[in-house]
This record gives sequence, C-alpha cells and structure tokens, in this order.
Amino acid sequence: MIAALVNLTPGVGRTMLAVNLAGELALQGRRVVVLDVDGVSGTGDWIARRRANALPALFDSATIAGTQLRHGLGGFAASFDHVVIDTPSRSPAALRAVLPAAETALIPIQADRTSLGRCAATMQLVIEALAMEPAPTASLVLSKVPDGLWVKPGSEATVLGLRLPVSAAVIRHRQAFADSMDTGLLVPELEMAGQAEADIRHLVSETFGLATAPVAD
Ligand SMILES: Nc1ncnc2c1ncn2[C@@H]1O[C@H](COP(=O)(O)OP(=O)(O)OP(=O)(O)O)[C@@H](O)[C@H]1O
Ligand SMILES: [Mg+2]
Repeated sequence: MIAALVNLTPGVGRTMLAVNLAGELALQGRRVVVLDVDGVSGTGDWIARRRANALPALFDSATIAGTQLRHGLGGFAASFDHVVIDTPSRSPAALRAVLPAAETALIPIQADRTSLGRCAATMQLVIEALAMEPAPTASLVLSKVPDGLWVKPGSEATVLGLRLPVSAAVIRHRQAFADSMDTGLLVPELEMAGQAEADIRHLVSETFGLATAPVAD
C-alpha cells in the first residue's frame, strides 16, 4: 500500500501520523519506508530525535523530491510492503506530485470549522486527483479531536463541496501524541500511551487492512 498524509495546512498531524502508522506497521512485522517529500515534511526531524535518544530505527526512511515521485516510487513499492508518504505544508506542487502516485490519501483534519475553512486548496487538489486514472482513494481522518465531535466517524462528510468518507478511526487530542513528536518515541514506546496506541492501531487496521490486536490500557 502506498499511503500519503496530505493537507496543505501546517500542524494538522501529518508527521505524527506518518511515523506512528509506519512504526505500528513495523511492529506488526511489515517492511515499511517513510518518504519525506522534499526533506521538509518533518519526518527527518523526528528520526533525528529518535537517533539522538539511541533508539533503533524500526522502519526505513528517505527523502524524495516531489519531482522524482512519479518515477522514483516504483523501487520503494517493490522493496517494501508499505510506503508511507509525509508531505510538506503549503506546497501545492508537492501535493500535485504525491496524490496521483498514492494508492490512498489520508487527509488529517482538525475537527473545528475554522480549520475546515483552511482546507479549500487541499480539497481542490484532491478533487483534481480523484478525476485522474487511476485515482487514489481519499478519506478524512479526524485529527487532534477534542471531546465533542462535529462529524460521525465512519460516515461521510462534505468538506467545501467534496463528499469524502470519514475514517472510523479517530485520532484524539492526547498528550502521548505530542510527547511522541517531542521525543522521537512511538506511542507504544511511551508510558501510559494505551489509548493513543489504540487510536493508531485502529487507523492502521482500517487503512492497511491488518488485524487490530487489543491494547492494554
Ligand atoms: N493527536 C494529537 N494530539 C495532541 N497533539 C498532537 C496530535 N497530533 C499532533 N500533535 C501536536 O501537533 C504538532 C504538529 O503535529 P505534526 O508535526 O504531526 O503536524 P504536521 O501536519 O506534520 O505539521 P508541519 O506543518 O509542521 O509539517 C506536534 O508537534 C504535536 O505536538
Ligand atoms: Mg510535518
């Protein structure tokens, strides 16, 4: 599976999801590579933090130029079970390169109306990609979700005119996710991260079709 985390808005949780989805897949025995598009998506910084803490790599990672994606992805897809693509914010050019190359696009969006208004440019690019042949699948992933939800997980939502499935998995706003980003640890490597790990496992199972093992709380 080639899965891309896409949203032009900064700070929505693309990198957190890229590394934790890849980490969970790796812990389940899959060969995974995370591609940091143009080297500015954030994955490289997280891996440097992980290395500074002398933690093992768990999954492969590489920087790929947006311009190389179309031709450079085949080698990665052949060598790994899963390719997870982390994309930079505010780069329509990168998204234009990534979306046709991906099999599935996960669009993390924060669950408030102000954030939605900022997604117009992303949605426009997703609409363009969905009109291509072959088109990726695309779904919204509710990210940094506070207690109240504005949309039902596992349903559909119309965002700026585009009707998309909403993943049943919800990534809640949890300290463990912020800690994961600060430390270079995966959520299962943090103490007291059971619920955060459950969020990630749910999304892994939904996106990559893997069994969801129960997580101790
Ligand atoms: N589910 C979450 N709960 C709490 N905090 C989160 C969550 N997801 C991300 N964060 C926090 O938000 C910050 C931004 O997340 P992240 O770097 O994954 O977003 P991004 O979309 O990749 O942003 P950028 O535009 O910088 O590439 C992280 O440093 C982390 O502190
Ligand atoms: Mg990032």
